[in-house]
Amino acid sequence: MKKVTVNGISLATYEEGNGPPILFVHGFPLSHSMWRAQFEAFSPDHRVIAPDLRGFGDSDVTEGPVTMEQYADDLALLLDELNVDEPVVLCGLSMGGYIAWQLQQKCPERLRALILCDTRAIADTSEGVRNRKRLAKMVVENGSAAVATAMLPSLFSPATGDRDQSTIDELRQTIAATSPQGIAAAALGMAERSDVTSLLPSIETPSLLIVGEDDGISTPEEMQTIADAMPDARLVEIPEAGHMSPLENPEPVNTAIREFLQNLSM
Ligand code: MLT
Repeated sequence: MKKVTVNGISLATYEEGNGPPILFVHGFPLSHSMWRAQFEAFSPDHRVIAPDLRGFGDSDVTEGPVTMEQYADDLALLLDELNVDEPVVLCGLSMGGYIAWQLQQKCPERLRALILCDTRAIADTSEGVRNRKRLAKMVVENGSAAVATAMLPSLFSPATGDRDQSTIDELRQTIAATSPQGIAAAALGMAERSDVTSLLPSIETPSLLIVGEDDGISTPEEMQTIADAMPDARLVEIPEAGHMSPLENPEPVNTAIREFLQNLSM
């Protein structure tokens, strides 16, 4: 992991391989490590870049709320610092997708393509906002392990529990090791995010959408609606996977990504 300073803060960043760049953006409240199966699959012929977002993993923590625009701004500067001068494929999961919508608005010319995994276009409901605020308070009072316990059941398909308990245990450890302030800042930032539904028809960037068939947070039906609204998007549904599809069932996810990249001639 290298440390890259942007906006006065240090971002721990995994980087491997050469070739067309893919920027992997993790979900909440995780770290770059959720993409390990994709690093293995794509670093032999791509430049794989995967930061820990501010407040997560080994990156610096700042006061919240941290908005989706702020994370996107960090990522644009990270690409500058790493001298990435060609457009990247941005692959984001859930909160990583919320950040992708912002980068798409801020600097579409930097994006060769989008891979949006298990994410949403709508904003939080008022009940959702209340839950975010509750979680932000709870994590500061009770610690990150309590957030892991609260969130894990909704992240995975029952099939993953039957097949691969160690992946779930590792994710629990990742969340438990995350800064409570970092988690609170992101939760409050997500609560402030805007609804991007009206932007979808204007996104010309080629896009692959991926969703676990058992994802109850960003459901296949909801992601199909997003794909239908975008001019150049296709949805692939992943069997035996929930909200963490790239981690739960990496083979079909990687196959879908590989086919998509081949069609972009990368
Ligand atoms: C994520 O995986 O990033 C979260 O589920 C996003 C959210 O809570 O909306």
